[in-house]
Amino acid sequence: MCGIVGYLGHREAFDVIVKGLQRLEYRGYDSAGLMLFDGDQVTVSKTKGKVFDLKERAENANAIHGNLGIGHTRWATHGVPNDVNSHPHLSNSKRLALVHNGIIENYQSLKTTLEQRGYTFSSDTDTEVLVNLIEEIQQKEQVKLAKAVRLALNQVVGAYAIVVFDIEQPDRLVTARMGSPLAIGVGEKEYFIASDASPFIAYTSNAIYLEDGEMAVIARDQEVEVRKIKSNKEVDPFIVELELSLEEIEKGGYDHFMLKEIYEQPKAIQDTFRGRLLSDQGLIKMAGVEQHLNTFIEAKRIIIAACGTSWHAGLVGEYIFETYLRIPVEVEYASEFRYRDPVIGPGDVLIAISQSGETADTLAAIKLAKSKGAFVFGICNVVGSSIARETHAGAYTHAGPEIGVASTKAFTTQITLLTLIALKLSQAKESLSHSEIKHLTKALEAVPAKVQEVLELDAHIKAIAEAYFRAENSLYLGRGYNFPVALEGALKLKEISYIHAEGYPAAEMKHGPIALIDEQMPVFVIATRKGHYEKVVSNIQEIKSRKAKIIAIVTKGDQEVAALADHCIEIPEIEESLTPILTTIPLQLLAYYIAIMRGCNVDQPRNLAKSVTVE
Ligand code: G6P
Repeated sequence: MCGIVGYLGHREAFDVIVKGLQRLEYRGYDSAGLMLFDGDQVTVSKTKGKVFDLKERAENANAIHGNLGIGHTRWATHGVPNDVNSHPHLSNSKRLALVHNGIIENYQSLKTTLEQRGYTFSSDTDTEVLVNLIEEIQQKEQVKLAKAVRLALNQVVGAYAIVVFDIEQPDRLVTARMGSPLAIGVGEKEYFIASDASPFIAYTSNAIYLEDGEMAVIARDQEVEVRKIKSNKEVDPFIVELELSLEEIEKGGYDHFMLKEIYEQPKAIQDTFRGRLLSDQGLIKMAGVEQHLNTFIEAKRIIIAACGTSWHAGLVGEYIFETYLRIPVEVEYASEFRYRDPVIGPGDVLIAISQSGETADTLAAIKLAKSKGAFVFGICNVVGSSIARETHAGAYTHAGPEIGVASTKAFTTQITLLTLIALKLSQAKESLSHSEIKHLTKALEAVPAKVQEVLELDAHIKAIAEAYFRAENSLYLGRGYNFPVALEGALKLKEISYIHAEGYPAAEMKHGPIALIDEQMPVFVIATRKGHYEKVVSNIQEIKSRKAKIIAIVTKGDQEVAALADHCIEIPEIEESLTPILTTIPLQLLAYYIAIMRGCNVDQPRNLAKSVTVE
């Protein structure tokens, strides 16, 4: 889950790399490093901490010159975050420098062999093993860099995206990928390499996305050369024109990406159904679903696999699909599903949900389901991501780049997309009448304006945050469609404020969490009028008798809960299945403000990374 960058061209590589790494900090930010070559000398700067610290260190050492360089921002897997374990790693002779995102699983056996041949290691990383393996092959086989990289990678088990520099061939960089993302930006007499396109979008919109098992050589004044790592077969590089804009990946006046992304939700939801929702006719158009209608509606069951927030969206999807479609649905943590020898085969449909489209466990769940004959459909946000490419069919959420580590607009757009799919299938299966579908499409169309209304409660929500930001524990309760929202609300708070938060189905509270409740404990309850309202009111009474503080999310005009709760946040009236989209918004804002008041870095919470490309 690290971020890597490479540059070769006419600019100062230092600026390109530092800015690029800052854009990739969502992938990891516990240490950073870079290597520059100025035509004569190599300089390496590394530090524990953020890219900003790296920039300062390099500037203080005047290690900032050169038109070629590589850089890295790290999320530690092997070895604690410290200067030595930071990338780039150099080979023993210092001839090679390498940055790596991924895990070399057989590094221990490779290391032992190298040690027997006299190699020594200064770090605890798997990456230092790889760079020395390449060097050993270069020396033993007397081959140039690209061949040595290829031969080394053929001995490696694991996941990687790498960039390698060799002082003996200083006009080029060699890059390769297997299981970790990698894009090459093609400019005018300059090349960029990065974990995603954001580091180079300011310079070029032409990119080559390497496939798993491919490597490339980028050399001054030469075309990019792409080859298969296994067979050495040359592949024609396919240049795509990126649609990403610089504006989309900048904060645009907001203090944090997370806040910007919370506020982008009305537009993001609209973008999810734009061109797909024909509410006047009560019709949904989705090519990816249309082509496989029968597979879906004849499915024995649907399995939804995902991780983190996407898993919570999957849980909402389960309620929506079972209600509207009457097909059994199971929601699985991708990490559990892939390792428990699940019963799945032809006739089953697996829906994989992933914002990034790169989550390693979700990707593995897809591969497993495919190998057992299931039909696999992907719901992703990042266009062209590994999951989008690995699935039989799919649909994008079109939420725009999500950079804040805590997922916000991805969640609400995933629910929007799941609703669209469920409606499309209900139409084909006739599990809902035309008028029911028309009613629901109208309701969905009204969601962005209602989300906007909830966002306007910002000041009220901030005042509630003020009252509770010192809490050390908290409980989130919801039932039915809003049970997953309780989980998501708790996840948001713990991710960015480090307050212990538990999400629970409201009725289950009596089977344990009620023991935690005391006067200090804030309890966030979703108590909208539709869906088990009376039952939730009873749960609120139970909490109230134990003197906890109650913050309730209610439907506008609610009197009953208002009389019991310490604070109410009112959301507009909405179709029950769509309530999660609205009830989530105040919980996102509460988490955001509480974290800010506690002085936390909301966009880069400790130990987390946005894209988990290791299992
Ligand atoms: C990480 C992120 C979460 C995200 C999860 C799944 O844990 O911090 O925000 O929900 O991965 O990511 P995906 O990209 O597959 O949705």
